[in-house]
Amino acid sequence: MKRFVIKGNICYSSENKELCVMKNGYAVCDDGICAGTYEELPECYETFPCYDYSDKLIIPGFADLHVHAPQYSFRGLGMDLELLDWLNTHTFIEEAKYQELDYAEKAYDIFAEDMLKSPTTRACVFGTIHNEATLLLMKKLENAGIKGFVGKVNMDRNSPEYICEESPEKSAEDTEAWIQKAEKFENIRPIITPRFIPTCSDELMEKLSVLQKKYHLPMQSHLSENFGEIQWVHELCPDTRFYGEAYDKYGMFGKRCPTVMAHCVHSTEEEIQLIKKNQVFIAHCPESNTNLSSGVAPVRKYLDLGIKVGLGSDVAAGSSLSMFKAMTMAIQCSKLRWRLSDQELTPLKVEEVFYMATRGGGEFFGKVGAFEKGYEFDAVVIDDSNLRHPQELGIKDRLERMIYLADDRNVIAKFVNGNGFLRDKDGIKRTFFGGNQ
Ligand code: GUN
Ligand code: FE
Repeated sequence: MKRFVIKGNICYSSENKELCVMKNGYAVCDDGICAGTYEELPECYETFPCYDYSDKLIIPGFADLHVHAPQYSFRGLGMDLELLDWLNTHTFIEEAKYQELDYAEKAYDIFAEDMLKSPTTRACVFGTIHNEATLLLMKKLENAGIKGFVGKVNMDRNSPEYICEESPEKSAEDTEAWIQKAEKFENIRPIITPRFIPTCSDELMEKLSVLQKKYHLPMQSHLSENFGEIQWVHELCPDTRFYGEAYDKYGMFGKRCPTVMAHCVHSTEEEIQLIKKNQVFIAHCPESNTNLSSGVAPVRKYLDLGIKVGLGSDVAAGSSLSMFKAMTMAIQCSKLRWRLSDQELTPLKVEEVFYMATRGGGEFFGKVGAFEKGYEFDAVVIDDSNLRHPQELGIKDRLERMIYLADDRNVIAKFVNGNGFLRDKDGIKRTFFGGNQ
C-alpha cells in the first residue's frame, strides 16, 4: 500500500487560485490518494511512515498540458521562423525520422529521462503519425512514472509526402490498432490527436470522431495560434464561422469529449464563448508563442471568464520542458501584452501562474494538482537552499523565487499518485515509500 506521510512547507492553490501555505505541515498519502494536510499529525496516521522534509518546499506536481515528444531532439534550434514555415522547414523533417524505431528509441529515452528528472508529474503528449514509435514513447513514459495522455498524431493532407498518411481510411485504421495496443498501459492513456485542421481532411475528422466516441477518449489539438494558420483554416472550411467550429462540427470540442486546445492566442469572441460553454481546456504556451512570434494569448480574460486554463511547454516551439520557465514567461508575456497592446487585461500574478501549472492543468487528469482530500497524491519536494539570500524569507517569497530561479536540480523527490521517486547522486530513481512493494 502506498501509505505514508511527508513533512515540510506545503504550498498549493485553492479553488479560487489563492495560495494555501502550511509551515512544516504533514501531507498524508493513503493508497495513492491525499488524505489531507495537517499542522499536527492526527493519531490515526501515526502508524504511517513519515518522511521528514522539514524546511523544504512541498508543492503539487506540475501538469504540462501540451508537449511534442519527438520535437525534443531539436529544442533550441530553428527559432527564426513563424509557425507554418517552421513546421515545413524543421518539424516535419524531424518527425519523419520516427519511422525508424532505432531513432525513436534513442530520442524517446532522452525525453523520458528528462521528464523523470523534472517536477512535472502529468502531461498531454503528442507523438508522431507512427504507431510503433508512439507505443514505445508510451512505454518509456510509463516507466518514467509519468501519468497522462499520449497521442498518435493524425495528418492526411497538406503535409509533405514523407509524413502524410496515405488516406483517411488508413489513418483511422492505424489509429484504432494503436488504441487497442495502448490498452496494456496503466498510467499512460491514449488521446485522439488530429494535428490541426490544415493537415486533417473532413473524412479523417469524421473517422476520428467515431473512434473518440467508441473508445470514450479525450482529444488534443491546436487552435488559433498564428494569423496565417487561422486564415488557411478559414479558406479550408468556408462553412465554419471560426476555427474552433471546425473541431466542434465533429463533436470534438469539449462537452462529452474532454478536450485540450493549445494556444488560443487569437480566438474570436464567438470562439471564446464556445470554449467556455463546452469546457474546453486551454493550454497556454507562452514560450512557444514568443519563439514563433505568434503573439500573447489573453490569459487574464480567460481566467476572468472562468475558462479552464493550464500551461504547456509546447516543446520544441518552446525550447524547454521547464514548467518553472512556463510560469515565469506567462507572467512576463502578460506584462508585455498589457504595456504594449491591451491596458484592459492586467498582468498575471504568481498565484495565478502557480494555479495554472498545478491545479488548473491538473484538472484535465481528474482530481489532480492540490493537496486536498481525495486528490491523487502528486507531490514534488523542492530544496531551494542553493538559491542563497542573506535576509529572512517567508514561504510565499520562497515559492515566488522558486518559480523564477529553480530548475530540475532543485527537485529532490517526487510522487505521482503516491509512487515515489528520489534523487541520489546518479539522478532520480523509483523508490518505495510506505511499503509500496
Ligand atoms: N500546429 C500544428 N502542428 C504544430 C506543432 O507541432 N507545434 C505547434 N506549436 N503548433 C502546431
Ligand atoms: Fe504544439
